[in-house]
Amino acid sequence: MKIVVVGSGSIGSLYGAFLSQLKDTEVILIGRNPHISAIQKKGLRIKGILGDRLFKLKAMKFASEVDSADLVIITTKTYDTLEAAKSAKHLIDAGASVLLIQNGLGTEEVVAKALNTTKVLRATTCMGALRTSPGVVTATGCGLTEIGSRYPENRELVERLVKMMKEVGFKVRSSENIEGVVWTKTLVNCGINPVGALTGLSNGEVYKNHILRGLIVRLVEEAVQVVDALGVELTTDDPIRYALGTAKATGDNINSMLQDLQAGKRTEIDAITGEIIRLAKEHGIETPSNEAVYALVKALESRNLKEGKKLAEVDVLKVADLVEAITG
Ligand code: PAF
Repeated sequence: MKIVVVGSGSIGSLYGAFLSQLKDTEVILIGRNPHISAIQKKGLRIKGILGDRLFKLKAMKFASEVDSADLVIITTKTYDTLEAAKSAKHLIDAGASVLLIQNGLGTEEVVAKALNTTKVLRATTCMGALRTSPGVVTATGCGLTEIGSRYPENRELVERLVKMMKEVGFKVRSSENIEGVVWTKTLVNCGINPVGALTGLSNGEVYKNHILRGLIVRLVEEAVQVVDALGVELTTDDPIRYALGTAKATGDNINSMLQDLQAGKRTEIDAITGEIIRLAKEHGIETPSNEAVYALVKALESRNLKEGKKLAEVDVLKVADLVEAITG
């Protein structure tokens, strides 16, 4: 199988490297410099909880440089999904399937519609990885990967990918309820991520604080009303306990939204909390807590982006700035 990984940051590099070990499998990583040029020169080093190894695999800057593929894996941030899919349009038009390994809601539909294909698969991941330096990725967590597709014709490919990932040692399973899987993960993200991002605390520190735990409960409770209105079947009976349990179990993690703010980057709040608020409005559901954290995260995000500052360099936000950032 020829696999092209578009958006090879930490997670994409990790999946690509491990899958490249399989017989009859070629992996090409597409990403940005200096990560890609470092891989071209010295190979990709994966460190951390999965061992310390050097992988020799092809790496390029643009998908347009690749002439064919069986599978395009997209591991970009949610807001870059469409651009990533379009960059691999020639591969998809020629028959390649697409696997989206991402956070957030709604990216499968966006890709299917824009590229006029139903060969779209979706996965959620609880793998943790950080790009520690160009060409080096540190694996920090080896949680479950769940794969499925809302288009039934992809079932065989889903099972094949599950088998391949198992073979390289990943914890993985298929799901026929991928919508439920994605929503269950999104509830965890809508509870933990903005709270950690706004307070600057690790998941464990958030969990230990009973006021912040209470905020997670409210955020998830509001989102569950949307899930119920949509008729989605979650993969847990108790989403609140599940979200709190995840915060506790991933105690040392700096959640991805906080990592983005700290790096002065855009966050994925729109595809998580933003989508929940949008869908809630469509169903006449009130989500005041989600709206509040959304506004605050967006304010921090836009201020950092505007000023090119990283969160660590930003002074405590003044109320006037906050109001201006939200309204202006
Ligand atoms: O986005 C994240 O950081 C992760 O999905 C999770 C599960 C919240 C752990 O930090």
